[in-house]
This record gives sequence, structure tokens and C-alpha cells, in this order.
Amino acid sequence: MFLSWLALLFSILGAVTAVDICSDYPKPDPCLPGGEWDPVLNSCSGYDGRSCFQCYSGQFCKTREDTLTCQLSSTGGNPLVIAQFWLLNSTQEPCSTTLAHYRPAYQNPPGVPLPPLEDAIRKLHAISQNVDTSGRQLIGGFGATMMLHATVAALSEMILKNCTSNCPPVVDVMAQPPYYDNYPYIVGIVQTARWNTSADPTSPYTIEILTYPNNPNGVRRNPLVKNPNHVIRDMVYYWPMYTDIDTTISEPIMIFSSSKHEGLAGTRFGWGLYQDSVLAQNVAQVVNVLTLGLSVDVQLRVLASIQAIIGEKLNPSGLLPFHEAGRTVMESRFAKLSEVLTCATLTNYPSSSHGAYAWVQCKEGLKCLDVFASVNIIAEDGALFGSTSQYVRLSMLLPDAEFEILIDKVKALCSS
Ligand SMILES: Cc1ncc(COP(=O)(O)O)c(C=O)c1O
Repeated sequence: MFLSWLALLFSILGAVTAVDICSDYPKPDPCLPGGEWDPVLNSCSGYDGRSCFQCYSGQFCKTREDTLTCQLSSTGGNPLVIAQFWLLNSTQEPCSTTLAHYRPAYQNPPGVPLPPLEDAIRKLHAISQNVDTSGRQLIGGFGATMMLHATVAALSEMILKNCTSNCPPVVDVMAQPPYYDNYPYIVGIVQTARWNTSADPTSPYTIEILTYPNNPNGVRRNPLVKNPNHVIRDMVYYWPMYTDIDTTISEPIMIFSSSKHEGLAGTRFGWGLYQDSVLAQNVAQVVNVLTLGLSVDVQLRVLASIQAIIGEKLNPSGLLPFHEAGRTVMESRFAKLSEVLTCATLTNYPSSSHGAYAWVQCKEGLKCLDVFASVNIIAEDGALFGSTSQYVRLSMLLPDAEFEILIDKVKALCSS
């Protein structure tokens, strides 16, 4: 019985290991320029390894469809523009080819990244000068999403525990509009907190999530909640490709993400920096309950990518080549969009000339979503972000092939 089980297992493994997911990593072309041939999926893929780029079809995805009638979604925050960088610059693959190399044990202690990864992250911040990590504990989790969830849960529980009289049943969590549209849902699954955009910022029972710089409009704002220990700074875009790093920040709670920095959204890794060691421990505890430990494989992938980034010499501009390349692309995208967007206003330009999103205001009385839908651009309604339908958010993180179509569509929209 045991033998036949083993035989079955090896026959399955044999089938699986025939595909070498490491050395067969997608290569540029023979697909459409900027595309990838994915031998594992046996397809000429576009932006996500599963299908052609939007508005492309046919053999090897080489047919560009009609600019006006094809549908282009510029929604979500998939950092595909950064994937292009790895495609051209990928040197090491943090990937073992045999199952024997996979790490079998749970990682201990929970929530604390592997020492070389923690060192690499601290070094990355020091070189980028965006954040001073000294005196702060670093806790990791599956994406900034989990770090936000764990931080809201741990912080709200601590606030309630320290309350002695007239204690509310839950802590209010707010963000200033326009805010990242996932916050209400993240807070909604925490028992000790509730999402309340009209919370009193002067109350000791209010937490503010401050996105810095902001998603969707790239603006850098001050918090309304004055106690810095009750402000969760979501700083996933505080990197040179998305904003000017003119101040090294050292706030009590700061959250980052490999999705937006290294472009590894599918890898799922994020980290938080905490000044209060009790809060850090409690956050790690929540991460542990949700995961039973961080994925070692994920951390190795993140480590390899950060090492590749910080292993390069600084450019004369003082930026790492990875950051400078990202910044150049984002700046040129904003410049192109602002040139053709003459019938609506790019409200985050020029205050954010290289952010991850364009926050667009249409003329009064117009539903901005419908304006863009008239040229088959699917945007995101400003109302989702706590603002109004006079605004939409467009992703500036599309791959090149799709961004060019976005520009052509906007040109057609504004010249009609
Ligand atoms: C402001 C902000 N925070 C957090 C996240 C989620 O990041 P992650 O993919 O690391 O969970 C996003 C993703 O778009 C975001 O825009």
C-alpha cells in the first residue's frame, strides 16, 4: 500500500518537475514587443502571464485592435510597469528547482523576517533615505494588506485594553478622503474596530490611516489625528519612482509593500516598522494567528530582488538605478498624459509628477466614469475613494503596450 502510494507520488512529481519553473522563466518576445513567452503556460502572454495585453489579440498577441472600440481597463494597482524592469534586468532567480530545496519547517519566531531579509530591507531604506528604521522593530506579513489588518487589530485592542472609564465598544478608524478604497473592508473584518469617516480625530479612541503619499491622488497630507501613536502611515508609495524623497521619516508606525516597491504583487510580502515594541509583538501575534509563520520561499524571493536592487552603485543623481529607471518611466507617463488630457484636469499634476495613479477631475455635472467609458476606458469612480463621481482614478502602472493605448484613447477623447 505504502509502496504504491510512493509510486503514485513520484509519478506525479515526475510530471511536475518536467516543467522547470525556474530556468524557464518568461523571456521577452517572440510576443508583441514587451511581451513574454511563458513556456510553463505554453502561451505568448501579455501583462499577467495568462493572456495578451489588453487590446491585443491573434497569434502571438500581435494584432492591435481598434483604438477606440477595444476595451482597456485602467483599474486596480497591478505594478506591471515594474515587471518590465525585471524582465530586462533579471540576473538571479531566487528559485530552487527541486522540491528537496523547499524549506520544510515553520519559521520561528513568528512575524520576524529572516535575518538577511531584515538586514536587506533596513539597508534599502538607509540607501533610499526615505525612512529611518533605527529604534523600530520590523514585522513582515503577506502584503501591506495583512500588515494593515494586523496593525489595526493589534492597535485597537491595545487602545481598548488601556481604557479605564467611558470606554467605547470599538475604536473608530478613519482616513481623509479621497482614500484607498480597500481600507473600509480591511477595517470591517477587525472585531475591535469600525470604519467611520466622520470619527472625531481629537478622540483618544480614533485611529487614522494616513496614506503617504496618497492613493489615489499622490498628495502628501498631514494627519488629522494628533497622537502619532494612533496614526498608521501606509507608505507603500514613499519611494523615488512615485514621489520626491525629500525627508527621511521616522514615525511610530510605517507600512511598506514589496508589491509597490519591487513590483512583486503576486509574491505577497509587506512589512511594518514599529517604535512600540509591545505593539510590534502584538502585530506579530496577529500575523502568526493568520499564517502560522511567514513563507520562507516568499522571503527568499523578496531577498533576492532587494539584494539585486541595493547591489547596484548609486547613479550620479544619488538614486539607485532601479529607482531612477522607475522614476523616469513614471515622469514620462505623467508628462504624456498631461499633454493629451486637455478636456479634463489631472488634479495631482504637477504636485505629483510621477505617482502611481492619475486622479482626474471632469467638468462639473459630468460623471467622469461615463466620459472615459465613451472611448472604452474603464476607470474607477471617485465615489469609491470617498470622493465624488466627478473624479476617476486611472492606473499609471500599466505595461508599456497598454499605457500607449490609454494615451491614444485619451487623445481621441479630448480631440472629439
Ligand atoms: C495604499 C495602498 N496600501 C496597500 C496596498 C496593498 O498592498 P499589498 O499588495 O502589499 O497588500 C495598496 C495596493 O494597491 C495600496 O494602494
